Amino acid sequence: MPEGKVPILSSKSGYINTQQILSPHGGCLTVLENNLVLPFHLERVYCISGLNEHTPERGRHAHHTLWQIMTSVSGSCDVVLDDGCTVQTIRILPDGWSILLGPLLWHSMKNFSRECVLMVGASDIYREEDYIRDYSAFLAAAGKNRK
Ligand code: TYD
Repeated sequence: MPEGKVPILSSKSGYINTQQILSPHGGCLTVLENNLVLPFHLERVYCISGLNEHTPERGRHAHHTLWQIMTSVSGSCDVVLDDGCTVQTIRILPDGWSILLGPLLWHSMKNFSRECVLMVGASDIYREEDYIRDYSAFLAAAGKNRK
């Protein structure tokens, strides 16, 4: 558990150390690779850029099976995690700690800083059918999963 961080309570989430590498030539590297302690194999990486103080809340969905790791390459934002029982808000910033987003975890991102860029590694290619975009459907699926 990283020092000074809010503990993440959801079982299918948590912090992953994706330590940033300061380049001797200037700048900073953020790396996602299968060598990290990830509970899944990376199949896809995407970035969400062009985020700023005026960007409305993003995300607001869960996945049936997809695992993801979310990291801030630049700037910060709040990631709201909801496993159907507990709702938590975690600030994500480029400090070398990324957030794991497991299946059946409703998540949204908001309160972006200026020039916020998020990088996400995912366990599968893009499949719209894996998304749960309706909150009631999510609660039903999360409840069933606990039984
Ligand atoms: P996104 O910003 O995730 O918005 P939404 O939550 O409303 O889907 O995605 C925007 C569009 O990009 C959406 O039409 C789906 C598409 N998309 C891909 O084609 N591949 C991807 O890996 C992702 C994440 C999204």
